[in-house]
Amino acid sequence: MILGLETSCDETAAALISPEGQVLADVVASQSDLHGRYGGVVPEVASRRHLELVAPVVRESLREAQAELADVRTVAVTQGPGLIGALLVGLSAAKGIAWARRLPLTPVDHLAGHVASLYLQPDPVEPPFLCLLASGGHTLLLDVLEPGSRRVLGSTLDDAAGEAFDKGARLLGLGYPGGAAIDRLAREGDPEAFDFPVARVDGLDFSFSGVKTALLYVVRGLEPEELERRRADLAAAYQRAIVRALVERTRQAAEATGASTIAVVGGVAANSELRAALPDAVFAPLRLCTDNAVMIASAARFVTPVPWPDYLALDAYASAPG
Ligand code: KG4
Ligand code: ZN
Repeated sequence: MILGLETSCDETAAALISPEGQVLADVVASQSDLHGRYGGVVPEVASRRHLELVAPVVRESLREAQAELADVRTVAVTQGPGLIGALLVGLSAAKGIAWARRLPLTPVDHLAGHVASLYLQPDPVEPPFLCLLASGGHTLLLDVLEPGSRRVLGSTLDDAAGEAFDKGARLLGLGYPGGAAIDRLAREGDPEAFDFPVARVDGLDFSFSGVKTALLYVVRGLEPEELERRRADLAAAYQRAIVRALVERTRQAAEATGASTIAVVGGVAANSELRAALPDAVFAPLRLCTDNAVMIASAARFVTPVPWPDYLALDAYASAPG
């Protein structure tokens, strides 16, 4: 079995999978309630909470799989990108577990993890495909020719799509994290009620800071009762703008690369309007869209493990290398 650990942001997660990609345990302890009152993730608070939760989630994953550490062949862990303090908790825990049992350790890139959420049983997606990765920290169009490799075709010049959802939700008083809340509220609103244009930038890149500012101005111009009354319309129109931008660029990229398969991963892949707007695309399983450790264990299958005990000096990285 592969034991996976993920602590890059505000989810403490552990998972066990078989080398063939069968999910045996999937445990996620979300800290979103803890950070909600601050309106976003507080890095130091996240690190401390990871520290408290990391051993219990590993124990819980073993219980769920009815397994023991003796069944684990390698420990996979997110090395970056993410919050550095948060990453270090997971990495240190993984080192401790692997070192004590003389196991190899497999460092995994978080973005490779999101893509690898597509490679699990019972329906693994076979490369090549075009992948839209849209999360709270990243918005990327990737050309995936084989598992474990990817070429960046486009990315966001400012905010990530999930970040745009979260900032919009905050403006609408929906709390943190806001993507799922906007998704829910938008179902009751009229997406044509407001027009939020999304800036078109050159090539296959994205820009979401303008749409957020447009929402800010509209919200500022409304009386409190009016805002309350039109909140669902605002959510629907705002979501429509973000989804349109994502879909348009993804279709363009598919045309440019001649890709016959489009796949969508990351937290925003959970969005119901996006799922409906790309009916021919393959979406990561709903449960594996937001951060989890199953995808980290899955990605580890395509990374060379670092042998015992060479990984003890391994460091985490906050932003994507190079
Ligand atoms: O992949 P993820 O868990 O974390 C990062 O790696 O960043 O993505 C979290 C992001 C948040 O911004 C959250 O608001 C967004 O995914 N999200 C959604 C939905 N569910 C989560 N955005 C839109 N619609 C949703 N249903
Ligand atoms: Zn993520």
